[in-house]
Amino acid sequence: MPLLTVTRRLAFNAAHRIHNPGLSDEENERLFGKCNSPNWHGHNYTLEVSVTGEPDPVSGYVIDLAEVKRIVERTLLDRVDHRNFNLDVAEMTGTNPTSENIILMFWRVLEPALRPRTLSRLRLCETENNWVEYDGR
Ligand code: NI
Repeated sequence: MPLLTVTRRLAFNAAHRIHNPGLSDEENERLFGKCNSPNWHGHNYTLEVSVTGEPDPVSGYVIDLAEVKRIVERTLLDRVDHRNFNLDVAEMTGTNPTSENIILMFWRVLEPALRPRTLSRLRLCETENNWVEYDGR
């Protein structure tokens, strides 16, 4: 049977501050620029969630993408949307909320939530020009 990958895109907004407390203020500013701004700032993120599998012989779907949307919202985005990654999201406590660290946390939530389906890739876009992808390796 052929393996196919289907993807659902979801949008959310969240605030953060990229800051490493082990570095001086000058080093933080140099390394993180505007994302080090002390009083937070927001991003309009998009998250793409990809599931790989064989199409179901009855439905023809790998997975119903409406089901993907429900799972992602219920397990993750309802807790993240319109929140502050530094202050409001328990899994990010003590973690610098770069897109890299955010996507790793998202994977840890979504991979088990989508079982027995196979989460094959996440793409998190912080802006239309900057994004990160993770495939679980
Ligand atoms: Ni930022």
